[in-house]
Amino acid sequence: MDPVRNPYSPGAGTPPPALVGRDAHLDTFDVAVQRLAIGRSAKSLMLTGLRGVGKTVLLREFGRTAESHGWTHVRTEATEQQHFVESMATLVRTALLRLSAARRAAKRARRALGILRSFRARWNLPGGGEFSLGFDPVPGVADSGALDEDLAGLFSAVGDLARAQGTGVLFTVDEVQYLSLDELAALIVGLHRISQDQLPFMVAGAGLPSLPSLAGEARSYAERLFSFPIIDSLPAAEASRALSAPAAEEEVHWQPDALERIVELTDGYPYFLQEFGKQAWDVATGSEHITLADVEAAVPLALDELDSGFFRARIGRTTDAERAYLAAMASLGPGPYESGRVAAARGKTTSQVGPVRDALIKRGLCYAPRHGIIDFTVPMFDQFIRRHPDMHGVDPSASERGV
Ligand SMILES: Nc1ncnc2c1ncn2[C@@H]1O[C@H](COP(=O)(O)OP(=O)(O)OP(=O)(O)O)[C@@H](O)[C@H]1O
Ligand SMILES: [Mg+2]
Repeated sequence: MDPVRNPYSPGAGTPPPALVGRDAHLDTFDVAVQRLAIGRSAKSLMLTGLRGVGKTVLLREFGRTAESHGWTHVRTEATEQQHFVESMATLVRTALLRLSAARRAAKRARRALGILRSFRARWNLPGGGEFSLGFDPVPGVADSGALDEDLAGLFSAVGDLARAQGTGVLFTVDEVQYLSLDELAALIVGLHRISQDQLPFMVAGAGLPSLPSLAGEARSYAERLFSFPIIDSLPAAEASRALSAPAAEEEVHWQPDALERIVELTDGYPYFLQEFGKQAWDVATGSEHITLADVEAAVPLALDELDSGFFRARIGRTTDAERAYLAAMASLGPGPYESGRVAAARGKTTSQVGPVRDALIKRGLCYAPRHGIIDFTVPMFDQFIRRHPDMHGVDPSASERGV
């Protein structure tokens, strides 16, 4: 099939040709934006799900939804190394500068930038331009030294200005699992502090299921401010549609057994669907149909691509001990796994491997669905590890299933 017209789009955050199965979340979000815009209360969304299920794509779609209502959308992605306070100041700065470009409410805009200046000074952040632009600091707002309070001061400056201009602001924060517990709690408590003010201001997030578990006050606030939908693999009918709809636009048709096979191989995981769809399209010999034979021919190519891209990128900077732990997990077959059994497979005690296990959770490669249980955050990672005996401690007798 003509590779130029290949519609499939495997890649981190790459918009799919057909965004299927997420309508309910998009509708919920759309209603929330509209409610906040008219001063009503609304819960935002904190998406959680495994790698490659489509969280980033959905978060970007939220951004487009907000923009379609005239709101300003500013995005950030947490990383293992990133400075949270700095990145919040940058988000606020970008939002304020975009809002002040409107020239309405100029006095309020100056005040907001002054508040940002106070925040930066209090949190020892290098000047972000508002110094050189000569905005006077506004003492007593966002400079208390308590992060939740100071974030509330910043957010309310943004929300106030947006309201004065008849618009709104959305911040999206991707990879929330990399925030520390304190940072996430400060963000939530800060948001809660301004939630009574009915501002057109919203934060939406996405993260792995290893998102820190909040405790106490922060937790009950989080439940009031956010719903936590689990973004998962697509059910068979929708997974089929993710492949068939974009092809139909190009007047190409998938044979039912070909679609069935891909859905079976990929378990409906969006990233895998895009990769298998792409390879099957490229190897297909006909010009109108993609057949089961095409899919079978595409399997090794798709696996190669996934192994060298999606999976390898995840294993990237792990230490030997971490790889050995991952290999011990994989040797037990598909997860989830009892931590004790993984430790035994490594020939060690649970407490001996505890630090390695914690490091893997911190890196976002594993998560603990329940106490004493561990699993990969990357779907079908066990099969990848078993496909690559260069990994430490792989049990060569472990069987291959599906992808
Ligand atoms: N609803 C969907 N239907 C079809 N394809 C989708 C859907 N959502 C995402 N995809 C595709 O899946 C791939 C992964 O999407 P995305 O990067 O958003 O996942 P993610 O959950 O953010 O992954 P990670 O945790 O690794 O960041 C992309 O190639 C995207 O085009
Ligand atoms: Mg993502």
